[in-house]
Amino acid sequence: MMTQDEMKQATARAALEYVTPGIIGVGTGSTANYFIDALADIKGRIDGAVASSVATAERLKKHGIEVIDLNDAGELQVYVDGADEITRHMAMIKGGGGALTREKIVAACARKFVCIVDQSKLVDVLGKFPMPVEVIPMARSYIARQLVKLGGNPVLRSGFTTDNGNVILDVHGLDILDPVALESEINQLAGVVTVGLFARRGADVCLMGTPEGVRTLTR
Ligand code: A5P
Repeated sequence: MMTQDEMKQATARAALEYVTPGIIGVGTGSTANYFIDALADIKGRIDGAVASSVATAERLKKHGIEVIDLNDAGELQVYVDGADEITRHMAMIKGGGGALTREKIVAACARKFVCIVDQSKLVDVLGKFPMPVEVIPMARSYIARQLVKLGGNPVLRSGFTTDNGNVILDVHGLDILDPVALESEINQLAGVVTVGLFARRGADVCLMGTPEGVRTLTR
């Protein structure tokens, strides 16, 4: 039997096919970490990488891959990252690791989003995994009340501060039937920095590790 880690590793290796010369965007999490390790083998083919978190930047540097500031990189050909949940329509919940804001910014700069997951992440309806929302600390209670009105049960991620100095509300109990609409609605709330719904700009390709091999899903 293939373990979950072996499936993550296989999907991460498969993503190397999408790496083009130039600068690439690299995500955060255990699957992204496998991708960084695989990238080290072909690092001569790229000019460097933009990191979506401090942790990813450290790991890239450890492998001798140059980390480039997004403002100096321009448009990226590809962004490779994991997800906490993904649908067949390529909408995702991200931010389990807390890096959602930088992830959304780097993803927005990329022509192609390649999502790398093991099969446990594929769902029909998003929301079983608590949806993270990064908020400005002073807006925490206000936004929590609005999220309750939207049917969710927000829980402050305790003892956690984001790379940007903010806090995260993890919203439990949602059945997200229209992720594009919910993303837009939460984006409008004053004090929200980023909602961990990636639906308006979802993935373009999902590489999904299964015991039978890596499956490729597209829009
Ligand atoms: C990080 O903030 C998240 O968006 C990650 O992409 C997500 O948590 C996936 O992590 P794993 O690959 O460890 O499941």
